[in-house]
Amino acid sequence: MINPREPVAKPPGAVVEGEAPDLGLPVQACLFEGKLDPCILVIFGASGDLTARKLMPALYNLFLRGALPEPCCIVGVARTDWSREEFQRRMQEAVAGQEAVDMSRWPEFAPALFYYDMDYQAAASYQALGEALAEHDRQFGIGGSRLFYLAVPPSMYPVISLRLGEAGLSKEGGAGQGWVRIVVEKPFGHDLNSARELNRAMHRSFEEHQIFRIDHYMAKETVQNILIFRFANAIFEPIWNRGFIDRVGIIAAERIGVGHRAGYYEEAGVLRDMFQNHMMQLLSLTALEPPSRFEAEQVRDEKMKVFRSLKPITDPNSEENLILGQYAAGEIDGQPVPGYREEKGVSPDSLTPTFAIMRVFIDNWRWQGVPFYLVSGKRLPEKRTELIIHFKKVPHSMFEDIQMGPIAANRLILGIHPEEKITLTFETKNPGAVVCLRAVTMDFNYYQNYRGPIMDAYEKSLIDCIQGDHMLFWRQDGVEMCWAYFSPLIEECETCAFLERLIHPYPAGTWGPDEAGRLMRELE
Ligand code: BG6
Repeated sequence: MINPREPVAKPPGAVVEGEAPDLGLPVQACLFEGKLDPCILVIFGASGDLTARKLMPALYNLFLRGALPEPCCIVGVARTDWSREEFQRRMQEAVAGQEAVDMSRWPEFAPALFYYDMDYQAAASYQALGEALAEHDRQFGIGGSRLFYLAVPPSMYPVISLRLGEAGLSKEGGAGQGWVRIVVEKPFGHDLNSARELNRAMHRSFEEHQIFRIDHYMAKETVQNILIFRFANAIFEPIWNRGFIDRVGIIAAERIGVGHRAGYYEEAGVLRDMFQNHMMQLLSLTALEPPSRFEAEQVRDEKMKVFRSLKPITDPNSEENLILGQYAAGEIDGQPVPGYREEKGVSPDSLTPTFAIMRVFIDNWRWQGVPFYLVSGKRLPEKRTELIIHFKKVPHSMFEDIQMGPIAANRLILGIHPEEKITLTFETKNPGAVVCLRAVTMDFNYYQNYRGPIMDAYEKSLIDCIQGDHMLFWRQDGVEMCWAYFSPLIEECETCAFLERLIHPYPAGTWGPDEAGRLMRELE
């Protein structure tokens, strides 16, 4: 068991020692501030894929780093009829299946795991769950704080949150009670109306400050770094505007296809799956105004202003600012792969887009006239996520006589995946007697001079939920504003009599359909 009862003598926060190999200096990684409140983490959907692949490995890693609250217990609930031992055994297998994980301390971790099977619809199940949680509270001296993590399909969010409320499990602050929080993952609705409906359903039991809407992109280290890069350095912000920036590219390319998720993806498509959420977060972090303090509400207020300033794309049929595609059979890594329509669970005449490039404008003072190109798709040649800031060209070239061709403009790349790095491209003189120019790059690798622990997005998100920090989570107004931007556009596409003409096929393993070429070239 993770330290039931006795408090452990430990400084507030968890600091892990590492070393900076290049500098020979010790470094410290701060995992969290202060002391984490003891709590019970209740995972709905504990027999599912998300729990096995992401949540349990993240929790075990946090435990290994001393970054779980003490005491803490983890209660899995699901419809599957497992015993507690079976749950512990399956979780052990799932964690051991991860790369390079030290399982030697699993026997200390496993006693913190409990399991109850339950019917998500039945009120009686929640009464029983409430009693079990109260018993764990007493047993381990936890003090009533609870985190409910809904690792279930979004269609279950309303009923689970409603039943939790009816059973009195969403109330916080009563005598001897701590906080109560609920965590949900995207998609938050299918369009603006369903997002509002979902929100209303959750708010019947939970207040906004209790709700944590996860977007794993926000918790990526290099995505968090965007604000630090922009606002903890004096030299970039003065040029971060339409006066110096020509265009911005935001790319989230994937090699994988739809995999086993056809049921969900057929209804979603790339605009709902990637654009309304992850791409909008990347866009807002790149474009927002500096908040006066690094606080969740202030940062989220600034993101809202960006979402509110997005210029609507009114006529998708013109294909001026949006091109959609769907992968056909092709090759990835020299291996043949099927087209989207041949994937299991996909309709043979599906018109679901798996690729999109959008040209977006932000109607405000800073960004007037600067195009943001957003590109995302499945079955593209590589997995690559990055922001590319293209600066303007020099206004006049004094090197015209010696330089063949135009001078390349400066470019800054914030790499998110696979390379977590920052690259600045600029012109230099080529060494030698003859003056000629060449473009070179200056690279910063994100983990350079650092050998401390690296937290994955789920570890970071879990710690933040336990700390009650909303910085890396969606606020409902942001969700709605992004749906307000995308819903009319998606609806217009989906109801258009020529939808077939708007969904351009592209061979798997290529950078989207030929029709995207014009916008792709503008972005280059
Ligand atoms: C998810 C989408 O939110 O993000 C998936 O539903 C997509 O379709 C995934 O593959 C991409 O995440 P990452 O972290 O691999 O870029």
